[in-house]
Amino acid sequence: MNAEVSVTQPKRISLNQTSDSRIEPLRKRSGLLAEYWYVGAMGRDVTNAKPVSTVVMETRIVLWRSKAGTVSALRDRCAHRNTMLSEGYVNNKKNCIVCPYHGWEFDEEGDCTKVPSENWEGKKRNNRSIESFPVIEKDGLIWLWMGLEKTPDPEKTPFKLPYYNQEKEGWGNFQIINDFENEVTNLVENFMDVPHTVIVHSGWFRNRAHKKVKTTMERTDNSVLVTYHQTDDVIGFAERVVNPKKLPLFHTDNFYMPNNTRVDYGFGDNERGFVIVSTSTPISDMKTRVYTSISYKLGLLNFGAKSWLPWYVQNIINQDLVITRNQAQSLREEPANYKSTPADTLHVFIESLRKWEEGGRKGRQPRAMTKEIEFWI
Ligand code: FES
Ligand SMILES: [Fe+2]
Repeated sequence: MNAEVSVTQPKRISLNQTSDSRIEPLRKRSGLLAEYWYVGAMGRDVTNAKPVSTVVMETRIVLWRSKAGTVSALRDRCAHRNTMLSEGYVNNKKNCIVCPYHGWEFDEEGDCTKVPSENWEGKKRNNRSIESFPVIEKDGLIWLWMGLEKTPDPEKTPFKLPYYNQEKEGWGNFQIINDFENEVTNLVENFMDVPHTVIVHSGWFRNRAHKKVKTTMERTDNSVLVTYHQTDDVIGFAERVVNPKKLPLFHTDNFYMPNNTRVDYGFGDNERGFVIVSTSTPISDMKTRVYTSISYKLGLLNFGAKSWLPWYVQNIINQDLVITRNQAQSLREEPANYKSTPADTLHVFIESLRKWEEGGRKGRQPRAMTKEIEFWI
């Protein structure tokens, strides 16, 4: 644990950059990585009382909820003098957002519907619309389609959160947000990487065991699937609290394009277990907002888990915040030059899929393949 890290959940994100119009926003520099759904906010943070501002791929977006409950997303930039609309207010009767500067109004499609200085009100007057974003609210998260192609690709859907809203089946769930100072590929790798857990999270999650771990790593067209063949793995608190019966453990770490990781730990025949899903939203090159959803099935422990499990998980994430910030500092000073071990195969697989998409799917597509790997923890 590192006490220096204070984790906040700011509504507004500072991009720390100048408004140099020659620099294209990350959304335009990301190639086909933009053509996906990204989480822009948690559903509980978007209300009809006040607009919310968020940044995805250096694109500032304003979100609000209508009285009927639907969420709208527009560029947070008034067509008139480019003021941020999120500092304005929502007119609930008309379901529109009102600019705080000269009072122009925009509906949920981004059409300008009122200009007080011209004394008119209506729909689609002049060329004063602002960009709107398709929105899907699912499993407590607000997903935004960031594609430059305005119609979402039906093959690409928001990542489904496993065991969300399954209290009756014995699953609890909570979600947290953390702002990391690093880029998506490195973070996704961190969330799936086992070797660092015995170093960075020693005493918290997994201790050095001097054991060999056999692993299967598979790359498909759009995922990297990792299975650890180590049923006697001991996880920091699992031994004492989660797995008192010492049931055999199954552990898989999966990555799904472009930015989702799913880590499963199951004990016995899924009698108990927990699943950690992280979806990483790029804010700018070296800033990423990570939405983590933790589902847990711990038997009777579930009743008290809300009081200690979020604290425990946050402490582990704090250690990752520190180490990935360290890495980012080094990468800012000099470009990446990585040497890899067999355990890093999953990193290489993930990087290859993301790079290929970022490059517009040109050149040779990373082939689907499976590798058997061994490494030591
Ligand atoms: S800047 Fe928005 S109405 Fe003038
Ligand atoms: Fe970690």
